Amino acid sequence: MAIDILPFAFGLSLFSFFSSVAGIFLAVRRGRDGATAEDRRIAALRRQHEKAEARRLKTIKRVAKELRPKIIQALARYGFSYIYERQGAMTRMSTPVIRTILYTKDAIYFRIDRLPFRTTFTDLLKPEVEQNLSLAIGRECQFQHDVDIGVWLQVGLRSGVSAIPRFFPYTSKENPQNALELLPATKNWAVPIGMTTNRRFVYEDVRDFPHLLVAGATGGGKSVFMNQMLATMISRNTPKQLELILIDLKGGLEFWPYHNLPHLRRPVVIDAEEIPEVLGDIKKEKERRFALLRRAGVKDIRGWNHTKAAKLPYIFVFFDEIASLMLNPKLKRVVDGLINDLAAQGRALGLHLILCTQIPNRDVLSTIIRGNIPSRVCFNTDETGSMIVLGNHSAAQIPPHGRMIYRRASYQVECQAPFISEAEIDAAVNGQNLPQNAEKREVTINDLFTASLYGFAGKFTVRALYSAFEGDASETFIRRAAKEYEYSFEQQGPVIEIDGSRFVLGRVPMRGGRGRFLVPLADGEPLPTTQEEMEALAAPAVAAAENADDVLESVAWEEE
Ligand SMILES: Nc1ncnc2c1ncn2[C@@H]1O[C@H](COP(=O)(O)OP(=O)(O)O)[C@@H](O)[C@H]1O
Ligand SMILES: [Mg+2]
Repeated sequence: MAIDILPFAFGLSLFSFFSSVAGIFLAVRRGRDGATAEDRRIAALRRQHEKAEARRLKTIKRVAKELRPKIIQALARYGFSYIYERQGAMTRMSTPVIRTILYTKDAIYFRIDRLPFRTTFTDLLKPEVEQNLSLAIGRECQFQHDVDIGVWLQVGLRSGVSAIPRFFPYTSKENPQNALELLPATKNWAVPIGMTTNRRFVYEDVRDFPHLLVAGATGGGKSVFMNQMLATMISRNTPKQLELILIDLKGGLEFWPYHNLPHLRRPVVIDAEEIPEVLGDIKKEKERRFALLRRAGVKDIRGWNHTKAAKLPYIFVFFDEIASLMLNPKLKRVVDGLINDLAAQGRALGLHLILCTQIPNRDVLSTIIRGNIPSRVCFNTDETGSMIVLGNHSAAQIPPHGRMIYRRASYQVECQAPFISEAEIDAAVNGQNLPQNAEKREVTINDLFTASLYGFAGKFTVRALYSAFEGDASETFIRRAAKEYEYSFEQQGPVIEIDGSRFVLGRVPMRGGRGRFLVPLADGEPLPTTQEEMEALAAPAVAAAENADDVLESVAWEEE
C-alpha cells in the first residue's frame, strides 16, 4: 500500500509546487476577485451538478427508506415470518431483519441480515420470491449472494415491473415480442414455454424435460400448448432428426393438422386397441437403442449422433388425454410399465413422453407418473389438482386461457403460454416458418466439443473428429478450434461450457504421448494455474477415458 502511495505523493507535491507558481503568475492576469470567466462558468456548472447529485441522493435515500418496510412486509406475506404465541395470544411476529442499505446510481442494496425462526435462505433465494417481491414493490428485484458478502436484495431504481402479459403471440408481424422471434434460432430443440414478469421469455430444450406432464381444466390451454410445441419442433427438425408418435383417443381431431406429416413414426393413434402395440414398439426401440449404444461404448444418443453416420432420431410421444388409459386397469399397467422403463433411460436414449390430462387426480396421475415425470405445466385447475400436479395451490389462482405454472425440479414460474392459431400450425406443417434449414446446419465449435465429450470421452483429436463429422467440418476448422480454445495459463482461459458443465481444453499426458483433452472443472474451483494442477484435475477423467470401451481404442491418440 505504502509503496503504491509514495510516488503518487511525490507527484502530488511536485504538482502543488508548480501549480502555486502558476497561480502566482496567473493571478496577475486575473480580475480583482481572482477568477477568469471560464473559472466562473466551470464553478457554476460544478455547483449545479453537485446540487443535482445531492437531490438525487436525497431521493434515493427517501426511496430506500420507503422500500425497506415494504420489502419486509412483502417477505412476511410470502411466509418469511414467525409468530411467537404465548398462551394462545400472539405476542410478537418476527420478520426479516434489514440493517444495512447501500445505494449506487442504478440500484439500492438491502442486506438481509437475519431471517425469522424456521425460514431459510434457501427458500428466500428461490426465483419466485424475487418475482413476487418485484411485483409487490413495483421495481425489479434480484438477490445477490456470496459467502463473503452475505445475501443482498438488489432493487433496480427504474420503477415499474411489467406483469405477466394476458396474451403472448406465437408469431406476429407487428410485435417483435413473439415466441418464435424470441426463441434462439440456433437451438433446434428449444421450445417456447411462455412469457413471465418483466417480459422475460422462458424456453426449454425439449430433451431436457426429459418427460413432460401437461395438466389443467378444459379451456385452460393444454391443446394450444402442445400444438405450439409440435409446430416448433417440426419446423426446426427434419424427419431424420425427429420422429413423432401422436396419440389422441378422442377421435384424432386434436392432431388432425399433422396427419400427413413425414415426421410421424406411425399414423395418428386414435384407437385404444392399438395402445399395447404402440407401447410395445417404443419398448422394443428402447431395448434396441440401449444395446446399440452399449456396444459402441457411447454414453447417450448425443454421443452416438455426433460420431456415427447412421443417426438416431429423437422420438417424442404426445398423448392427448391419458385419463381414458389410466382408468382402464389393463392399459394402466402397460402405461405405468413403460413410464417406469423410460424414466431413467429415456433421456439417454432419445425417447421422450409428453403426457396431457384434464383430470389431474390420483387415479389418473399414478404414483409412477408423478414420481417419474419431473417437468410439469399446469394450467388453471382446482386446488386438489394443483396440489397433485405441483405440490402447491398456485395453479388454482390463475386465470384460464393460456396462463400456467411451469415447474421443473424445484423451480417454478408463472407464464403466459404462446397462442398459436390454426393458420400458424398449418404454416409450420407446410414448412413455412423454418428459422433455418436444420439439415444444412453447419458444424459449430460447440458441436466439436460436444462430440469430443460424448463420443470420445473428452479426447479432442483432429483426426477422430474429422472422421466423426464425415467431412462436414473441415480439418482446418477443427485445427483452428483446437488452437483457439487451448487453455493458456496466462489468460486462464477460455472456459468451455457443454450442457451446463465447464471444461478447459488442456494438453495432458495420455497413453503414449500428450494430447488435447476436455478437462472438467468442478463448480467454484479456481482455474488451474500450472501444468501440474491441470494434470491433477484431468487425471480421473483421463483414466476413465483410457478405460472406456472399444470406441476409444480405435481412435489414434495424437502425438505432439
Ligand atoms: N396461450 C393462449 N393464449 C390465449 N388464449 C388461449 C391460449 N391457450 C388457449 N387459449 C384459449 O382457450 C381456448 C381453449 O384452449 P385449449 O388449448 O383447447 O384448452 P384445453 O385443451 O386445455 O381444453 C382456446 O380456444 C383459446 O381461445
Ligand atoms: Mg384440449
